[in-house]
Amino acid sequence: MTRHAAAAERPELQQGFSPAHLPFDADRVRADFPILQQQVYGRPLVYLDNAATAQKPRAVIDAISNYYLSDNANVHRGVHLLSERATGAYEHARTVVQRFLNARESREVVFVRGTTEAINLVAQSYARPALKPGDEILVSILEHHSNFVPWKMACEATGARLRVVPMTDAGELRMDEYERLLGDRTRLVALGHVSNALGTINPAAEIVRIAHARGVPVLLDGAQAVPHMPVDVTALDCDFYAFSGHKLFGPTGIGVLYGKAELMNRMPPWQGGGDMISSVTLDEVRYNTLPAKFEAGTPDIAGAIGLAAAIDYVNGLDRAAAAAHESALTRYAEERLSDFDDVRLIGRAAAKAGIVSFVMASAHPHDIGTVLDREGVAIRTGHHCCQPLMHRLGVPATARASLAFYNTREDVDRFVDALARVREMFA
Ligand SMILES: Cc1ncc(COP(=O)(O)O)c(C=O)c1O
Repeated sequence: MTRHAAAAERPELQQGFSPAHLPFDADRVRADFPILQQQVYGRPLVYLDNAATAQKPRAVIDAISNYYLSDNANVHRGVHLLSERATGAYEHARTVVQRFLNARESREVVFVRGTTEAINLVAQSYARPALKPGDEILVSILEHHSNFVPWKMACEATGARLRVVPMTDAGELRMDEYERLLGDRTRLVALGHVSNALGTINPAAEIVRIAHARGVPVLLDGAQAVPHMPVDVTALDCDFYAFSGHKLFGPTGIGVLYGKAELMNRMPPWQGGGDMISSVTLDEVRYNTLPAKFEAGTPDIAGAIGLAAAIDYVNGLDRAAAAAHESALTRYAEERLSDFDDVRLIGRAAAKAGIVSFVMASAHPHDIGTVLDREGVAIRTGHHCCQPLMHRLGVPATARASLAFYNTREDVDRFVDALARVREMFA
């Protein structure tokens, strides 16, 4: 692996991302998140559902509220001052995302509703027109439904076939199978960068390198990666990269599709309406250039501004120290759970990001979640929008604690104490 490729996979090797020498001060950053200061059921909230959605720092809330208090107007249309300000802030947000992902050009950043919409855009506009019967799309068994169902739909509409890369029992992608399944008929690889259900960090740069060696483009679902590690789409060389604002400490309703300009220029628009056209007559519609071509209608202006504020906030942290803090907490939680003889950890990949998924012999995940909630501890239970993965694991559901940099050892202790309570109740 080249240093460049290694850097794309190992955040700590990236430029300006030096190993942390100082411990991360989670208590200090917690103070930036007003929602974490509350009590639930008379106890301080322990929020361990960050993979579902992360909490928002005051800076994000203020950016959105300031926009509505002083700049609110529609973008790209008005000649008046407010519209100029709103347009400026919206396009500035695009530049913030471009730098965050290290994309070459800001027109390669398309604002969408979230990861789901980003993937659907590529499935509808890139895959569907290109797919022929017998062609193949390659996903993995680890995928979230939003990186599975859109491809299944595109395959069903065109006669193409969805191929699925299996995983090891530890939850790691079978790279040997990946190479084997990547064949002459593969038209696109669509893989998660980090698994939401197990936390597995896939070797993204390696995945792209192998696919490109066979001329196959790659989409990476980065929903669970961007909150935990710096992502450099130029170093990764991926063709598409999707993520959601709300998992990155930004607002809901906004997300990003990064796509290489040479690919996106060739793709037809997928939604028609305002802003995506350059001219319309009764006989002919001419489309706008990137990125407007893919942003029909009034966008989520406040959302883009909030997302930029979230990125500014995250960029202000020592990300290496934050990642080290999250890994230490994940290991600590796993160690403490190993004291429970009726708990089975699910997902033991060597490279993991902030997820502790488990089942308990004595209690159904839903009961675990309900008891923990009453103890003031918020976790997620269910299939995590990964039913094919649950099927592979032979479980209907898991309980999942997912960590962010603002979580502390006390949070983990409260979580483990609450699990002891579950055992008392159900064993
Ligand atoms: C890995 C992964 N991909 C895609 C999604 C979908 O994201 P959204 O619902 O924000 O579109 C999620 C959300 O949980 C996810 O974890």
